[in-house]
Amino acid sequence: MPKASRRKFLGAAAGTAVVAALKPSELFAGKDRSISLPQPSTENTESLMSALRNRKSTRSFSDKPIPGQMLSDLLWAAFGVNRPEFGYRTAPSPKNSQEIEIYLAKADGLYLYDPFLHQLACISSDDIRHFCGTQKFVAKAPLNLIYVADFSRLGNRKEEKKLFYAAADTGFISQNVYLFCAAFGLGTVVRDWINRPVLAKKAKLNKDQRIILAQTIGFPG
Ligand SMILES: Cc1cc2nc3c(=O)[nH]c(=O)nc-3n(C[C@H](O)[C@H](O)[C@H](O)COP(=O)(O)O)c2cc1C
Repeated sequence: MPKASRRKFLGAAAGTAVVAALKPSELFAGKDRSISLPQPSTENTESLMSALRNRKSTRSFSDKPIPGQMLSDLLWAAFGVNRPEFGYRTAPSPKNSQEIEIYLAKADGLYLYDPFLHQLACISSDDIRHFCGTQKFVAKAPLNLIYVADFSRLGNRKEEKKLFYAAADTGFISQNVYLFCAAFGLGTVVRDWINRPVLAKKAKLNKDQRIILAQTIGFPG
């Protein structure tokens, strides 16, 4: 089960001096409909310089779904586990708090990315893409990532500081996604124009979970 495995994983990570006290997430509790992703193909050798050269925002998408292997690689690049022995990730976070969770709004439902098992936990089978943003292309594109900060993982800091960290950390992740998309022929745009209260309700978020940004992804069309 996702929750149990996350606890085990974080338990192992807690043995190292550099890993902050990670609060085991309850997010995966009860979400036992999960979809395995193929192993990420991390040996791909697309050039970083060419990805940087091609990085841009796209606002016109085809409705063609993203193939499973590509989705797996994309999520790993975004915020996957790149040092499994310690549970570290592809993007930094303050004291390794790993407070950003990635939700996926797809035509066949809403999912939560479990980076430790590298799989998707199904939250609902509703298509909520049209609640992910106020721009037209949002509902047509096959994938919207919703970056949600779990403020309870940021300790006793002031609200303002938590928001600052969450925004910075979302920036790192969304840039990973931008570069992946530029390297592998996908279009993407990171977005602030979101009706957050409505989307938070649709995604069944709790009071500690704050929507920071969303990011639309698909083949340009
Ligand atoms: C924090 C942030 C919020 C953004 N919000 C939106 C948005 O809601 N809708 C949109 O179409 N683009 C949005 N963008 C994309 C910017 O408009 C875009 O990055 C900018 O025009 C530069 O274009 P480029 O990304 O192609 O270089 C956002 C970018 C950032 C960094």
